[in-house]
Amino acid sequence: MPGPVLGIETSCDETAAAVVTGEGAILSNVVMSQIEEHRPYGGVVPEIAARAHVEVIDELVARAMAEAGLAYADLAAVAATAGPGLIGGVLVGLMTGKAVAAASGKPFIAVNHLEGHALCVRLTEAVAFPYLMLLVSGGHCQLLAVEGVGRYRRLGTTIDDALGEAFDKTAKILSLGYPGGPLVERAAAGGDATRFALPRPMLGREGCDFSFSGLKTAVRRAHDGLDTATAQDKADICAAFQAAAGDVVADRVGQALEIFARDHPATARTLVVAGGVAANRYLRARLEAAAGAAGFTLKAPPPALCTDNGAMIAWAGVERLALGLTDPLSTPARARWPLDPDAAPAPGAGVKA
Ligand code: KG4
Ligand code: ZN
Repeated sequence: MPGPVLGIETSCDETAAAVVTGEGAILSNVVMSQIEEHRPYGGVVPEIAARAHVEVIDELVARAMAEAGLAYADLAAVAATAGPGLIGGVLVGLMTGKAVAAASGKPFIAVNHLEGHALCVRLTEAVAFPYLMLLVSGGHCQLLAVEGVGRYRRLGTTIDDALGEAFDKTAKILSLGYPGGPLVERAAAGGDATRFALPRPMLGREGCDFSFSGLKTAVRRAHDGLDTATAQDKADICAAFQAAAGDVVADRVGQALEIFARDHPATARTLVVAGGVAANRYLRARLEAAAGAAGFTLKAPPPALCTDNGAMIAWAGVERLALGLTDPLSTPARARWPLDPDAAPAPGAGVKA
């Protein structure tokens, strides 16, 4: 196993750096969230994100190294997210990673942010390839067959909004605050899911693609149909939204489980979920049920590693380095970078990868 790898992540609104050993020990994992900077706008503002990354990245990398108790000379390699994501932010982390690698004479590894999420479960648990992966965050909503390092087959993706984005927009429509996911979940707990009839986009359709923009529009209509939305009205809408999202996710994942089991008949059946939305307890329960019904075991990285972090980038670096996969310092930053280059482009607009 190679020695420790420094991982840097700046593709969205978290500035993060971590050091992970070749054996998977997390020596440090520093994450600085920009939530306060973006809160007044109810969403991530790319220019603000890029500037905020620049302001803290040097100090953050220094902290990750100090907490790990290592000098740059002790590293086996430096890994940084090279995409997909907000390009201004990606550039900040990528240039920093390249600079550290060049100055310390260490190999450089350009990590796909989605690969970071996809491999992260192997940092904390012995999960063998292949497995089925559901990645649900504010920017991504994909189902992937993870067949090995660098070997991914996309089974489904959203044709419009990511699920986290739909949670955030629902919260915005209902004036609940930002980020919306946890607030919608909390409100839904006291709501009646049957009062508002919301649509289940893509339910029962062939394949594993998702769509959430129609659901968001239906939430807006339900809200606009009320004179003044009371706390109970909002709770009922949240419960209806969450139930609809749960039905859609269970249906789409169910399709993917079937396809995966058919394509990999002789392997252990594991469904891995990651991304910020994986924190939602209702959706987790729906996923547990769907996985169990198909003979799969549901696994998820611990919450702090489900959301964006540096440890997952460092770990992807460890996995790549073990296979001799390093990258030149000329590697560009990429706003779009699908994990599965053979997957047909999703037909809708607003798809992140
Ligand atoms: O993975 P993440 O931290 O950042 C990226 O988008 O990459 O995910 C953040 C997203 C946000 O949309 C947030 O509203 C959602 O995850 N989220 C949740 C919950 N906690 C966070 N969505 C539903 N229920 C939650 N409990
Ligand atoms: Zn992410």
